[in-house]
Parts: sequence; C-alpha cells; structure tokens
Amino acid sequence: MKIGLLTGGGDCPGLNAVIRAVVKRAEQGGDEVLGIRNGWNGLMTGNVEPLTGYSVMGILPKGGTILGTSRTNPFKSKEGVQKCLDFFRKFGLEALIAVGGEDTLGVAERLHAQGMPVVGVPKTIDNDLAGTDSTFGFDTAVNVVMEAIDRLHSTAESHHRIMVVEVMGRDSGWIATIAGLAGGADYVIVPERPYDIKDVCATLGRRHDRGRQFSIVVVAEGAAPKGGRLVSQQGGVDEFGHVRLGGVGQVVADEIAKTMGVETRVTILGHVQRGGSPSAFDRVLGTRFGIRAVDLVRAKTFGRMVALSGTKIVDVPLPPPGRQKRYLDMELYSDAETFFG
Ligand code: F6P
Repeated sequence: MKIGLLTGGGDCPGLNAVIRAVVKRAEQGGDEVLGIRNGWNGLMTGNVEPLTGYSVMGILPKGGTILGTSRTNPFKSKEGVQKCLDFFRKFGLEALIAVGGEDTLGVAERLHAQGMPVVGVPKTIDNDLAGTDSTFGFDTAVNVVMEAIDRLHSTAESHHRIMVVEVMGRDSGWIATIAGLAGGADYVIVPERPYDIKDVCATLGRRHDRGRQFSIVVVAEGAAPKGGRLVSQQGGVDEFGHVRLGGVGQVVADEIAKTMGVETRVTILGHVQRGGSPSAFDRVLGTRFGIRAVDLVRAKTFGRMVALSGTKIVDVPLPPPGRQKRYLDMELYSDAETFFG
C-alpha cells in the first residue's frame, strides 16, 4: 500500500517517534510511506517526500517533527479541500495517517466523511483530547515545567518572593495541575476553575503566616478570574479560530503583589515546553501509536484514531468536531489542592 503521513498543528516531543515507527512498520510489511510536509498545507500544495528507513535514522531522540507542521485548515476554503483530495489521488495514496491534535484530527474526520481513508494519531502537550487516556508530548512538557518549578524554588526562597509560573495548555489545566503536583506548587490556577484572587491571596497568606516567606503559583495560560475574561496579550486568532493566549501570569502576579504587599516575579515558560528531546514515556507512546496506526491501515479500518486505554493501545472513532475536548480530571486538581497554602 502507499500510505501518506503528515503531522499538523503545534509540534510536540514524540512526533518523530511516530514517524519512525510508521515507516519501520510499513517497510516490514512491504508498504511505502510518502511524507507530507507541513501538515495539511503539504497536501494542499503537493509538498511531499518519500520516507524510508534511511530518512528516519536517528530521529527518535529529536524534538519537533522532521516533516514540519503548520496550522493550515483546508476547510477555510472550498478549493483547499478539493486540492487535498486531488493530490491524494495524484500521488496514488491509498491511506493517510494524520498525526495531530483537535484541529488536525477534526480535519481528518471531515475528510474521512468525504471518502478519504484516514487514520488519526493523537498528539498534544495539552493532553486535552477526548478518546485517549493520554497524548504523547504531555509528559515531556510536564517534566520541563517541573524542572522550572524546582529551579524557581531556591531563588524564590532566597528573595522571599512569590514566583508565578505561566504554563501552556490552552483551555485545559492538565499541564498546570500535573506539573504543580510534581513540583510542589503552593497554588495552581486552571481554566476549569475560574479563580478568585482573594482566595488565592488568603491561601498564600496562611502559608506566609506559618513562616514560609515564599511561594510558587502555577497559572495555566487559559485561566480567567470568576466572571472575567481570558488574557491574550498578542491578540489574533489562527485558521481554526483559536485566540493566542498568554499574559494571565502577569495579571495574577500584579494582583498578588497589590493585595499582599509582597514582591512577585513572573516566568512564562512558553514554547520551551514544546521543545527538546521527548521523555521515555512519550517516545514509547508515540512508537506504539505509530505501529498501531499502520496496522489499522492494513486492516482498512479507517475513520479511527489510535488511543491509549489504561496501558493498552486501542482504536476509537475519530472524534467529530465539538466532541474532541477532554478537560482536566478535577480529582487530580483536588489532590493538588491538598498542598495549597
Ligand atoms: O496546543 C499546543 C499549544 O502549545 C498550546 O498549549 C498553546 O496555547 C498553543 O499551542 C501555542 O500555539 P503556537 O505555537 O501557534 O504559538
């Protein structure tokens, strides 16, 4: 079979593990893989490269994606979808493996509905995709945040400051909560629970009253105050209509400084969370997803997405638009709350 492979949306550690696994599994069964560059943009413009065992040599520990990615949405225009269908046919493809988050997989689901034989592979550092217990990329991002929190502890303590760490995650608080638990954060603010700055300060105040003169507060970029709005310092939306988040950490730090009369500082971790070598967990999950994706193609089981269920790799229907989100498990947030203040 001739299988197309693309990676779309924000990159994350572990994408190259998927690419390597797809190519190896395909080659072992005598199938060919055509890499499509830069997500859906490559399928709309015919930007491709054949992938062989040689092309994927040594890529397992590398961050990012050797295929490149983009936030291109072919459904933005009528021609976009037609171009995808035309190039799919022109290249003689018999299946497409699309590796991405809610946007890329949403496009995959819609193209499948138009007759394209597609299999999805879920990825995102945000860990917010329905249908899978975890996405690869998340574990590496959490480790980056945890290390940052560890480092911030010593300087916070030396200067008796409150350090606010703003993390990614779009409108879910998975990264903030799990990294907060791992790093021992004194407060975690997530989109799923609009914050009340009075409560944040009262909690931190109790800690300071006990003689702890510093604190670490983790804030998810998509968090908003009760009855308030999201912060988007940069403004603008991408082709899928998502606002560019960022800036809530500074808002929270300023309010804490004003209310408590203590010095605060802000660290925005940004894209550092998406870069670098994948953790062992993400390499293995990406690899297992890649192998199963090829198996689904061989079995001609299209319109499906590989997923993690417990410790097993399973397949589930590609989530239709509007049903792709998996918000934070609030039981985990409640565990993190045990250590607040
Ligand atoms: O979805 C992954 C993610 O890193 C989000 O956490 C973040 O809001 C967004 O992508 C940033 O996107 P970009 O790389 O386009 O700035």
